[in-house]
Amino acid sequence: MKNKKQEVRKRYDATADKYDSRYQQIQFAKYREVLSSIVLESEDVLFDVGSGTALLLDYFQQNNLNFVCCDFSYEMLSEGRKKHPNSNFVRADIDYLPFRKNSCDILTCFSVLQNCPNPAKTFRELTSILKENGKIILSVLTNIFNLDNLSKMAKDADVEVEKIWKMKIEDYCLIGKKKDEKSIKC
Ligand SMILES: C[S@@+](CC[C@H](N)C(=O)[O-])C[C@H]1O[C@@H](n2cnc3c(N)ncnc32)[C@H](O)[C@@H]1O
Repeated sequence: MKNKKQEVRKRYDATADKYDSRYQQIQFAKYREVLSSIVLESEDVLFDVGSGTALLLDYFQQNNLNFVCCDFSYEMLSEGRKKHPNSNFVRADIDYLPFRKNSCDILTCFSVLQNCPNPAKTFRELTSILKENGKIILSVLTNIFNLDNLSKMAKDADVEVEKIWKMKIEDYCLIGKKKDEKSIKC
């Protein structure tokens, strides 16, 4: 398992300098489709997990966001740091996030879960750092996941699905809200 993750990390490290030229257009199309309905408040803390080269930060073109990019590839993060020297970059494995529980308002995770050996466990780890009623926005590849297993992962992580659909390009997307304790008990 560890070896598989290491292989993935090495692959992204080795191709980091080419990532933006290959994928910027397609990732921006995904962000546009998903984020048009999301309103960001200036005090929101947003974590982009599996952030890669911080394309999402490029997309927002705002430097007043409380935005944290997290990825396990040193080279992907360093490409991001070159573009956004004043932003927050944290190197960590998505399955062992070094953040306080209940600390994040909005968590995004675009095109990452296909690399995770146990996506359901990863989904729960992501949710654990969200505040109650915090939003999770996640896209996954259609050749690996389907809408049923994506919904089930959300349910098992105590996430209420607000919207789930097949995007125009490549991925399924889920927008959900972490349930508060009261609604989990019901
Ligand atoms: C396809 S790229 C997507 C990058 C970014 N989300 C985007 O929209 O461009 C997948 C990213 O997930 C990261 N990744 C894969 N497995 C990871 C893990 N176990 N922990 C943290 N990051 C991981 C890779 O290093 C890579 O940067």
